[in-house]
Amino acid sequence: MNNIETESPKIYIETYGCQMNVNDTEVIFAIMAKEGYGRTENMDEASVILANTCSVRDNAEQRIWGRIEQFKSVKKKNENVIIGIVGCMAERLKDKLLDCRSVDLVAGPDSYRRLPKLIREASDGHPQIDTILSREETYDDITPVRIDKNGVSAFISIMRGCNNACSYCVVPYTRGAERSRNPNTILSEASKLFDNGYREVTLLGQNVDSYYWKDPDTADDDINFAQLLEMVAKIDPSLRVRFSTSHPKDISNEVIYSMGMYENICKHIHLPVQSGSDRMLEKMRRRYTREWYLERVAKIRSVMPECGITTDIIAGFCSETEEDHLQTLSLMEKVGFDYAFMFQYSERPGTLAAKMYPDNVPPEVKTRRLNEIIELQGVLSLKSNEKDVGKECKVLVEGTSKRDSSEMCGRASNNKMCVFPREFPDGFISETDVSIPGIVTSGKINVGDYVMVKVTGCTSATLICELL
Ligand code: 5AD
Ligand code: SF4
Repeated sequence: MNNIETESPKIYIETYGCQMNVNDTEVIFAIMAKEGYGRTENMDEASVILANTCSVRDNAEQRIWGRIEQFKSVKKKNENVIIGIVGCMAERLKDKLLDCRSVDLVAGPDSYRRLPKLIREASDGHPQIDTILSREETYDDITPVRIDKNGVSAFISIMRGCNNACSYCVVPYTRGAERSRNPNTILSEASKLFDNGYREVTLLGQNVDSYYWKDPDTADDDINFAQLLEMVAKIDPSLRVRFSTSHPKDISNEVIYSMGMYENICKHIHLPVQSGSDRMLEKMRRRYTREWYLERVAKIRSVMPECGITTDIIAGFCSETEEDHLQTLSLMEKVGFDYAFMFQYSERPGTLAAKMYPDNVPPEVKTRRLNEIIELQGVLSLKSNEKDVGKECKVLVEGTSKRDSSEMCGRASNNKMCVFPREFPDGFISETDVSIPGIVTSGKINVGDYVMVKVTGCTSATLICELL
């Protein structure tokens, strides 16, 4: 090891919350690398420890408060270590976090370029706080340092912030106004990833369908999300493209047609419905109805019958009745979601709902409704997987199966997790079309390969497959 490496200071980051936060952590590593900071996964050797936090529900924040308590003992062991709280909770709670003696700095999601300076000043014994939200910041010139070790799939943020005003949601307050990133920087980041062996990019935004770019300095045409998707898909047919999150009110036919046109745009849409009741949707300020949502699903399925559709659901929003809840269950059955993230409503201070509506569904009723939703989704996920038994699909190999180390795993286009053997049997004669970009039909299988598989069985979480 050379001297520079042994002497360079180290930064340790814990990441909570969504994919956007994971990508922000990667941006922070890149910013700190320029300052000479190496990355460590061992807190004890770090001179800077950051928690990149989430405020979306109260239990996410409670977890982080617990962690801050534990940081006190880290500080006791090494009083020179800088402890910082960054991300959504930093933005929301600001100086309240500094009151806790173990915290030296607080920085919101748009303040990361200033972290080196904040860390220097905090090291001089002055606690730092920077939660200025920006209308422009997209970190578009920063190449994130990838923290996912598989080297195959990566996140690319295409926009930041959110202009919707869903009444339950804290994100517009913690991440500020929506802004889109220059498409040229998105394309060059995706191309570089491909050149470095990556085979899947996920384009991230709170509401990708409202991506919009018009260069103020040139006469170039404006670019919407459907066009951006196609531009990324054209980089190489063996680079898969995914995206998240779509808003049911904004997902356009153009996006659906673009997905249908390119084999390498994965056939999966995460389309958070939140509730199946029009009365709840209105109160949530989602700006669509149950009927609109079902029409969007029908449109997606008419263009891409095999498209995976997943969702987010909130149980027990303000004044939700049994009838509203039954509407949610019936919508779930009607759509037959492949997978769902399901939550109890958690009141967030400062949001419209917190100001306007009492959080009046008793906790035990919220829990019971959530359990009914989870139970139904278990049945729907299993049904959806059973429908795939017997089908053939193309899988991007991501790594060793978690349950059985003798097997490999990877995702089908529709985002379902598949498990399959590690190698083709000796003398196996594959009937797979070998001209498919990146496809492997013999020998050992490596991470980053594509394989064709046939689904032979399933659980509610996984497709069990054989190699083709
Ligand atoms: N309470 C519960 N769930 C929430 N979500 C957002 N805000 C809240 C809240 N206050 C859920 C929504 C959203 C997902 C990211 O988190 O379902 O789509
Ligand atoms: Fe992500 Fe929302 Fe949590 Fe912020 S509050 S980290 S945007 S999920």
